[in-house]
Amino acid sequence: MTSYGSAIRDEWALAPGYVTVNHGSFGATPRAVLAAQQMWRDRMEDQPSRFFRSIVPAALRDAAAALASFLNADSADLAFVTNATQGCNAVLRSLAFAPSDEILVLGHVYGAVRNTVRYVASRHAATMVEAPIPFPRPDADTIAANVAAAITPRTRLAVIDHITSSSALITPLPAIIAACHAKGVPVLVDGAHGPGQVTLDLPALNADWYVGNCHKWLNAAKGCAFLWARHDRQTDLHPAVISHGYGKGFLAEFDWTGTWDPSALLSITAALEFHARLGGPTLRARNAALAAEAAAMVAARFGTETGHGNQPTGSMAMVRLPAPAMDAPAMLALRDRLLDAGTDVPLHLHAGQAWLRLSAQAYNELDDYARMADIVLATLR
Ligand SMILES: Cc1ncc(COP(=O)(O)O)c(C=O)c1O
Repeated sequence: MTSYGSAIRDEWALAPGYVTVNHGSFGATPRAVLAAQQMWRDRMEDQPSRFFRSIVPAALRDAAAALASFLNADSADLAFVTNATQGCNAVLRSLAFAPSDEILVLGHVYGAVRNTVRYVASRHAATMVEAPIPFPRPDADTIAANVAAAITPRTRLAVIDHITSSSALITPLPAIIAACHAKGVPVLVDGAHGPGQVTLDLPALNADWYVGNCHKWLNAAKGCAFLWARHDRQTDLHPAVISHGYGKGFLAEFDWTGTWDPSALLSITAALEFHARLGGPTLRARNAALAAEAAAMVAARFGTETGHGNQPTGSMAMVRLPAPAMDAPAMLALRDRLLDAGTDVPLHLHAGQAWLRLSAQAYNELDDYARMADIVLATLR
């Protein structure tokens, strides 16, 4: 039986005593994975030329094969990128749009991806259209229906978050993808929070592109993410940075975008081993159950509500703060005060109300959320 919570917290380098319930923002890399990353760095600095010429190309493809197997995918369809933002940029900036074309996003689209869509749309005189997400307690059918209703004859692309950042909702991807494909609209899934939170079978999901972070819920070192492209979507797909591989095919273009430190990407093998050692699917189910239990406990303590209602959660869940409506500067100031007071928990605004986003990773246990709630209540007072 695997232990979780404080019994294994020392597997991470997290500051002892600091109340961290925010794995979702930047992940946290276990010592074992940092050691694997360091091993790659040592090899890189030992003989830089031999490392980049002879070792990196095969090592990257070995790492892609290990990751592809976790995603039930073919490694030939899987390229590494540094983060989800870069992966989404690659797809969006590879596509051509005509004036008055529409790019569909969710109302809760991640801010950096929203900006990328705005940038691409503005360069082609296209338009960004948002499908509204009711919050709190949206049901999956309403989300899928809202996306379907927002598709028009001018929709050229849908960019859909797998798990929304500001509201921790798992979106009904199969229904959304089916609705988009029925209207001939390709789908880019922003799965920044997917890998390690939910079980993934990328070919079965049948999106056109899926971008995923490994440095969040898979515990890889920071700067480890991937872009999966369905085989028929790889032509004319280019990284955001063009380099030596230009015109030589999907993998050649993405595997080299200039000199960089590939140790984070190569840490994925150790991260996958770590995830499996902690239980793999058992860990994911345990984290989801803890997130839901923690959110219910904190909402009861605050006398407020959870964001997901009866919907299943992944490893994150939302709780409304017991505070009057506030604006973004006030929310950010509160976030800083909470960090100073000893807890890392992100805040998001919905209709002027601040909500806490709770993350549950293997090192968390219910007591973390009780301590976090104490700090929040004391800070609000
Ligand atoms: C939905 C979503 N997309 C994209 C990102 C960006 O991830 P990264 O900073 O690793 O590029 C995030 C980060 O939290 C996210 O939540």
